[in-house]
Amino acid sequence: MAIIFDEKSKIFNLKTKTSSYIFKILCDKVLMHIHYGKRIENTENMDYLYRDFTHASFASFDKDLTFNNHRFSTDSLEQEYSFFGSCDLRTPAFHAQYKDGSTVTKAYYKSHKIYNGKPKLCDLPATYAEDDSEVQTLEITLFDALTNMSIILYYSVFEEFDAITRSVKVINGGKDDINLKSVLSFSVDFPNDDFDFTHLYGSWARERYIEKRPVAHANLSIDSKRGSSSHYHNPFFALSSKNADEFAGDVYGFSLVYSGNFIGGVECDTTNIARVYMGINPFNFNWLLKEGESFQTPEAVMVYSDCGFSKMSNIYHTLYRKRLCRGEYRDKVRPVLANNWEATVFDFDEDKLLRIAENAKKIGVDLFVLDDGWFGKRNNDNCSLGDWVTNTKKIPSGMGGLAKKINDLGMEFGLWFEPEMVSPDSDLYRAHPDWCIHVKNRDRSEARNQLVLDLSRKDVCDYIVNTLSDVLSNANITYVKWDMNRNITEPGSELLSPERQMEIYHRYILGLYNILERLTTKFPHVLWEGCSGGGGRFDPALLYYFPQSWASDNTDACDRIFIQYGTSLVMPCSSMGSHVTSAPKSNGRITPLKTRGNVAMTGQFGYELDLSKCSEEEIEEMKEQIVFYKKYRHVIQNGDMYRLRSPYTMKNCALEFISEDKNTVMVFYFTLHRFANDFSTRLTLHGLDKTAVYKEVNSNLLYGGDMLLNAGIKVHDQKDFDSFVFIFEKQ
Ligand code: DGJ
Repeated sequence: MAIIFDEKSKIFNLKTKTSSYIFKILCDKVLMHIHYGKRIENTENMDYLYRDFTHASFASFDKDLTFNNHRFSTDSLEQEYSFFGSCDLRTPAFHAQYKDGSTVTKAYYKSHKIYNGKPKLCDLPATYAEDDSEVQTLEITLFDALTNMSIILYYSVFEEFDAITRSVKVINGGKDDINLKSVLSFSVDFPNDDFDFTHLYGSWARERYIEKRPVAHANLSIDSKRGSSSHYHNPFFALSSKNADEFAGDVYGFSLVYSGNFIGGVECDTTNIARVYMGINPFNFNWLLKEGESFQTPEAVMVYSDCGFSKMSNIYHTLYRKRLCRGEYRDKVRPVLANNWEATVFDFDEDKLLRIAENAKKIGVDLFVLDDGWFGKRNNDNCSLGDWVTNTKKIPSGMGGLAKKINDLGMEFGLWFEPEMVSPDSDLYRAHPDWCIHVKNRDRSEARNQLVLDLSRKDVCDYIVNTLSDVLSNANITYVKWDMNRNITEPGSELLSPERQMEIYHRYILGLYNILERLTTKFPHVLWEGCSGGGGRFDPALLYYFPQSWASDNTDACDRIFIQYGTSLVMPCSSMGSHVTSAPKSNGRITPLKTRGNVAMTGQFGYELDLSKCSEEEIEEMKEQIVFYKKYRHVIQNGDMYRLRSPYTMKNCALEFISEDKNTVMVFYFTLHRFANDFSTRLTLHGLDKTAVYKEVNSNLLYGGDMLLNAGIKVHDQKDFDSFVFIFEKQ
């Protein structure tokens, strides 16, 4: 049993393979958090952990709350989920306004139930169970008697996957309207504050860089107010003990399965309680909940690791790969693709595409992808988004004809769309100027000469589903790149009443998920790849629909090492689109084809350069890269990953992958900066069988598992931007 409730002590123990999450119903009213960390079996007599509230304070005492003959205040209690309006004056998880204008909520424990399986989150992507036996759920209902409002806390425990998911549902059981101002997906109050806070920040072409800073007596948070999870912050952070590194120490990961405005952070109070929280960003948010209606928050996934960051990442990778990602391509080998964007940008015609495609076939590519510029009159980024009709001047055979020609070459065919956008210079906009997000009588700010379609409207969602369905049904298209190239400004919708205008951001995301659910169900054989000006919306929610996402428009191999390394804290390598492109890029660095290949292979491998202009030697080298990749891709895509050396030292980077059956081990080593008179160092490996013998396939040398684990292999930086791959096979 993953969830145990002890009737006598009123304690819940949520047990994963290696962790326990423990809390108690206190005074039959409030939920007191007790422990999150290493697994504990026996929770009897845990009351000694209750904090005596003896120090001088300004805190008010909650009525009827006494424990061990003390009155106490929820202001200094480690709580499970906190409400604004009474004694707890820290950042609340819940904040609402009622008919009389008041903002006080007093929701207390009413009931709970425990069952096998996990309910679907209505209209939102979430982790799922394949079989009810692999997950248990605890539902706790808290009730505010004055308003008849129920707040249901959901905890689902994936015992074997070693993770706990949380979400919240609010039900208005009263007659009066409720304005929800903040309903976070969870909060956890840790009894101590000696942590570091690690998060992934970035910008276009520099996504998901790792930043770490100490938790202090302050509110430290990351967020998005951009209408999208965004390039700027990923909806993920970790708390770690001061001694934590990749392989040791306590690490707690928090990841939100959501693609819109979010907030996540840690607030450390004066009594050193660290309150961690995450959910939809309350900024510019208000949700009107009418009688009988309910509101569901997105899901957050919590992971505890007692062995540093690598274990945390591997838990996320496995869970997200197997129980968040869906569809045919979840378990299927993904094709090696060639995309024309960096080769041609908008300047192509059918002949040029076919010349690139013929060379793609020569090197062993499985799928040819036509990017932006195939529709309307689009020869630059000024026009035509929304008009998804093939430009037959550029492609005289039409999309069906071109797809057939690519199929005849022996490859599959894929196509780019940017369905959420409209160009002011488009037939769609001329017909429906009210279909974009805007505020009446105000200017509409353009970014990349485009506006955002109002996905809170059903007619707009239907248009997108119908027009894409037409294109996908009339040509043999087995891959779609779904791009999205701007954030939301002037948030407003013509169809929403004034009191619902602040619902626009969340309604946009619900509209997006609705479209994706319909299209992925209708076209189950299509491989969907997400993209947002590179990796501007690379969040776990989209993994539910898109098995992979383009990680960044920055394809310089060295820069990519940082981006992919940061991304790997939470997202699996099987989800990171990564291509070999030409060098140099705008930063002037000339990286060898070998290294560009090795970097791209640590993600979803592909090519994005003018293959018709490559030399014979380059073509030969690429052929070998693809043969090598196809032989070993199962190790990278389904195996465990260990980060052995961080590029953030600015010197080199090493990554280890070990296959699911533990028989094949790959070590990728990249040199970023080779210092003169440098010396060799050792890399110790992880996850091997210490009693087994391993053969390194290039040298045929034999190594004992314990040698590789404890003494390691010798590596030496040879020259800047060099790289090599070791492969060990268990004998
Ligand atoms: C941004 C994407 O990140 C690129 O890969 C490319 O598809 C362009 N958009 C096309 O406009």
